[in-house]
Amino acid sequence: MIFDTHAHYDDEAFDIDRDELLDSFPFSGIGMVVNVGASIATSRNTVELTKRFPNVYGAVGVHPNEVGTMTAADMVQLRQFAMEEKIVAIGEIGLDYYYREPDKEIQKVWFIKQMELARELKLPIIIHSRDAAQDTLDLMKQTYAEEIGGVVHCFSYSKEIAKEILDMNFYIGIGGVLTFKNAKKLKEAVMDIPLERIVLETDCPYLSPEPNRGKRNSSLNLPYVAEQLAQIKGISYEEVVETTYNNAKALYRIK
Ligand code: NI
Repeated sequence: MIFDTHAHYDDEAFDIDRDELLDSFPFSGIGMVVNVGASIATSRNTVELTKRFPNVYGAVGVHPNEVGTMTAADMVQLRQFAMEEKIVAIGEIGLDYYYREPDKEIQKVWFIKQMELARELKLPIIIHSRDAAQDTLDLMKQTYAEEIGGVVHCFSYSKEIAKEILDMNFYIGIGGVLTFKNAKKLKEAVMDIPLERIVLETDCPYLSPEPNRGKRNSSLNLPYVAEQLAQIKGISYEEVVETTYNNAKALYRIK
């Protein structure tokens, strides 16, 4: 069975067939899904999804591009969501300098605050980091993130950055981008990352793998990513699926 460690099934792209799709997963080889919040509203929706679907767990957090209006009251709300039974991580949180908003310093403040919340609640973190490798590593070191644990999702950096992340005992999330023709740097990095530290993710509805690039993504596309990973590492598809499933359970501390 496949474990999708990062999905956004609360997204409106799934309004037409959400229940049907999620109900079908156990019959399509998708064993478990972690739905990830990116704002207070989507974190609330994530909690709802975990209550409705047995195989859906959740993460709650505010994405770096959404922290511009974040308040102390939002942190109180997040803490409440995080105490719900099937919430297994704080995320997605981090730094995203691609859109240049909000200000870097504001992003850093809320990244640190949410990491501290995770530490206090003993939950792992899901880090979103785009065009911000050095600052992400610096803040992870500064907050002793290796004691918190978690995953750097949709990894897009070099093998050198991967090594630093692995040194802090984090997992690395790999998704559809691995199948893209222009993903040479990522393929190189993946060669160096031990399978024991890789988890599969869709980030759906975004980042659909080849041959479905550009279409709505879902966990049903993860076999394409697992197949690509097996090819790069010269191992069987079954080994990729089984190992990454166990990695994901260890990452989210699911018994
Ligand atoms: Ni995401």
